[in-house]
Amino acid sequence: MFAITKSGLNLLLLGLLQVIVPATAIYESQAGTFDWHHTWVGHPREAVKIDNDHLAVYSEKNIIASLNTHSGAVEWRQVLDNDLDQFLATDSGILTLSSLPERAQFWNNTNGQLIWEYTLPETENFGNAKPVAWNNGETAVFVGNTKLVKLSKEGKELWSWTRESKEVQGFESIKTLQRGSAIYVIVEPSEEVKSPFFDVSIIDGTTGETTQSLQIPCRNTASDITYVGNYIIWTEDDSIKWSPIDKKDIKSSSLKTLVSTLPTANRFVPTKISIGSESNDANTKSFVLSAEYEAEEHDEITSVLVNVEEKSLVLSNYFGTQASFGGIDFHQSSLIRAVRTSPTEFTTYILPEGKEVKIQHDFSLSGDINYIKLVNLEPLSLFVVTDGSSVFYYNESSIVWSREESLSNIAATEFLDLPEKKMWTQMADELDETVSEQAKENPVSRYIRRLTTHALELRKLPGWTVSHFISMSGSTLVSKDNEVTVLEAQSCWLNKTRPEILYRDNFGLRKLLISATKSGKIVAQDTSRNGKIVWSRYVDAFSFTHIYVVRAASVKLPPVIVAIGDTYDEVGGQATGFIRLNALTGENYISTATEYANLFEPVIVTNIGTDKIVRLPIEDPEERTHMLAIFEAGSGRVYIYPDTFAAREKFAAEFLPNFYLSYQNKEGNLKGYKVVEGYRGSLKVLPIWEFKLPQGEDALTISKPQANEKIASLGRALGNRNVLYKYLNPHMFALITRNAKKSSMNVRIMDSVKGTILYETIHEHVDTETNEVHIIQSENWFVYHFWSNDIKPRGYQTVVLELYEGEHENERVVSSNFSSFDNIQPHVLSSAFAFPYPITTMGVTETRNGISTKDILFGLPTHQIMGVNKRLFDPRRPTEKPSKDDQEEMLFPYGPIPDDKRLFLTYNQDVAGIEAIVSSPSLLESTALVFAYGIDTFFTRSSPSRQFDVLSEDFSKAQLLLTMVGLVVSIWISGPMVRRKRVNALWK
Ligand SMILES: *[C@@H]1O[C@H](CO)[C@@H](O)[C@H](O)[C@H]1NC(C)=O
Ligand SMILES: *[C@@H]1O[C@H](CO)[C@@H](O)[C@H](O)[C@H]1NC(C)=O
Repeated sequence: MFAITKSGLNLLLLGLLQVIVPATAIYESQAGTFDWHHTWVGHPREAVKIDNDHLAVYSEKNIIASLNTHSGAVEWRQVLDNDLDQFLATDSGILTLSSLPERAQFWNNTNGQLIWEYTLPETENFGNAKPVAWNNGETAVFVGNTKLVKLSKEGKELWSWTRESKEVQGFESIKTLQRGSAIYVIVEPSEEVKSPFFDVSIIDGTTGETTQSLQIPCRNTASDITYVGNYIIWTEDDSIKWSPIDKKDIKSSSLKTLVSTLPTANRFVPTKISIGSESNDANTKSFVLSAEYEAEEHDEITSVLVNVEEKSLVLSNYFGTQASFGGIDFHQSSLIRAVRTSPTEFTTYILPEGKEVKIQHDFSLSGDINYIKLVNLEPLSLFVVTDGSSVFYYNESSIVWSREESLSNIAATEFLDLPEKKMWTQMADELDETVSEQAKENPVSRYIRRLTTHALELRKLPGWTVSHFISMSGSTLVSKDNEVTVLEAQSCWLNKTRPEILYRDNFGLRKLLISATKSGKIVAQDTSRNGKIVWSRYVDAFSFTHIYVVRAASVKLPPVIVAIGDTYDEVGGQATGFIRLNALTGENYISTATEYANLFEPVIVTNIGTDKIVRLPIEDPEERTHMLAIFEAGSGRVYIYPDTFAAREKFAAEFLPNFYLSYQNKEGNLKGYKVVEGYRGSLKVLPIWEFKLPQGEDALTISKPQANEKIASLGRALGNRNVLYKYLNPHMFALITRNAKKSSMNVRIMDSVKGTILYETIHEHVDTETNEVHIIQSENWFVYHFWSNDIKPRGYQTVVLELYEGEHENERVVSSNFSSFDNIQPHVLSSAFAFPYPITTMGVTETRNGISTKDILFGLPTHQIMGVNKRLFDPRRPTEKPSKDDQEEMLFPYGPIPDDKRLFLTYNQDVAGIEAIVSSPSLLESTALVFAYGIDTFFTRSSPSRQFDVLSEDFSKAQLLLTMVGLVVSIWISGPMVRRKRVNALWK
């Protein structure tokens, strides 16, 4: 060992810190070479054309953004931190109303910058009426349900108007219309407020004076209220009524006589019709009358265009029947409707012009039309959003661009290892032949064929050698075919070509990322081509919650995933759906065992509750897929998937005897069970333990062990060569609760099999109201993050708990095979560190053998991911001057977690709304793959202990190759010489 002087010591430790801090940072030249970031805007609820090149959208994710109409690129984006309720885009800017807290904001539509903001006192809120905006930048917004406030271009109050409140109050539905400088305020009757009239006030927009008020009578059965031009239209029992909004002049038309000439007249039943169409344009003249009815397999819709005239309603275009309504938009006096007319086509009707445009579109991949916006009429450009949250931009003949916005709505993601190429070529060679072919061929010819194949493969050897050595340095670990642009990668997969089968690279850096989304899509992305979509699926009326890789890529059999989600059963009740896919192509996976194929459908919808799903460590004997166990808390029953005879038999023999489950109910109480066989081979649970939260406590969060974690060493070597043995209990987890009254937070480490509390600690003065608490668990440690109001270290705190088998060095529990039934109480070391930021989620890197120290990954609300080496979260960091042993152990002196931008894995990228960070190992021990999702998606590689197994960039590869060639040549020459010498020596 080196001798170190005392003054040199601090320098050394500082130097060590330097080594560890920038380990996660990347060089500027590396940015974007292997990492990728997809900026999403969410499922658009509305789009408005700003100019010929830009479209403003607002989405379910509380985002407003501007999209480039030529490429689909996000020009600017604002992610609001409160709930976006109203959106109105005008030529002079975009007005948004958002709540919690209440804000009216006005944004520059060229660059997305905030122009002004108008806030309300806490006691008030913006009503649910649509605001009004003029093109000069002036706006008017409803405060509560009674006050209308006009705001200037600078967001200053110009006037306010108060509605004379009639006796009706509460959940009123208020409609605002802007006609020239006048504002119409119409209070509609609603479910809650059954008033016998429409209460109309006409306000002078310049002065705020009421110029007229009137009441248009209606019955309290009035529904489907809509506005066409200057008319208000509604349905009442079996008739459609309408009146001008500024005059009490009600006309009525019987539904039956109106539709009598249509072929589907008998479908227009009063309770099943709707006159849905909403336009603020004073020029509109017509609406679509539609009726829904049950057809043989699915519901169908029949519809007709109706023109509103002063005295009568006149039927115009009859649309026939379709499977769904589609989308509708207005352009001056034209009405545009896009509706699915076949599984691979939709028709855009432009009326009253009578133009029809058919556009090819594969609905099986996207779901039905959910929203359309006509961006341009001549030539046609159409913005289409589907039920699966895919966004398309079409011109008259083809697609211009698309965005897979369902990826802003991921519920769960799994990394899938790709198969090795040689496995697959061999398989294609030998396994493709039929049984009769196999029988015909004799062993000799088969051997010759194999030899020829292998000889042919030798041709690839030089190329393989070169690529293997060349790609062994850090900079070239970049995939060479990464020419896919980020925008292309964000596009929807259109199934024009079958998915290309991908193979693993030498270092296992290329994987498939398979994400199940809440909008019913499953999307597979290629990590090494900027996240380009390899295949996608849409499952109608599904909202996915889980995804499992049940069979990894192994010889002969393709990898299989199972995605699970919420859906509806045949009668419209809540149900759970399972779908089983070939993970390389996205196609339904049909069992190869023929007796299964009929028995086990790829898509199953059931009524069992999925309160907990466990991926079991055992495989189904015939298909070699991992079994899943599903726990239904209400009935206490357990189901296995797949539930075939062979699977059940193996499960009963190998897993059932030691199958324990724990479950946390909605109140936060925990219960532990043993799974046993019940009536007729069914499975049920027997309660074993219960943990009821003490009075006044409620649960905040719970940790779980990392799935598939590799642990390299059972102990921790200390500076004095002694060992602390890690407490590696696979059944432990941490439960964090709070006592709101005492503002304290309680952390308990528990055993899920026995229900015992292994360790408990209380933190006083913790704010859990405005700050979240997060925890991560791995190996024998836990790290959690919270806000502490304690006077001294007030701020964000991270605490690490490390569990050891005994308090003393070298102390070890005798049993080598850990069982929860051994009654040992772990020894816990803990330490708290100040942390510079609030966080939204936590993750941890995973490497191949678990040798590299881990990085703990923090998602920050400022749209960043920070990676902090576990060595900084070490309870053994000395607070005093480090001793010689501490130096040997390479411990850093105690200190807060540094606020260092170099720790950001996202460097300068704006990765919005990170909700989860997942990691997967590569074949290089030094390198972990990291994927984060939420709103945006971000993929990168992390090397927490630097790339010790990769040649540095400045390493001379030519010299290495030359040396090797030299060595080979010299061995070749000297080998015989040496041998001869040896032989000669023996003869002597
Ligand atoms: C919006 O931003 C553009 C470009 O920065 C600027 O030219 C324009 O004046 C701004 N508009 C308003 C209303 O502030
Ligand atoms: C892709 O297209 C083929 C044929 O056009 C079809 O059989 C297949 O089901 C499609 N795949 C998906 C996932 O829609």
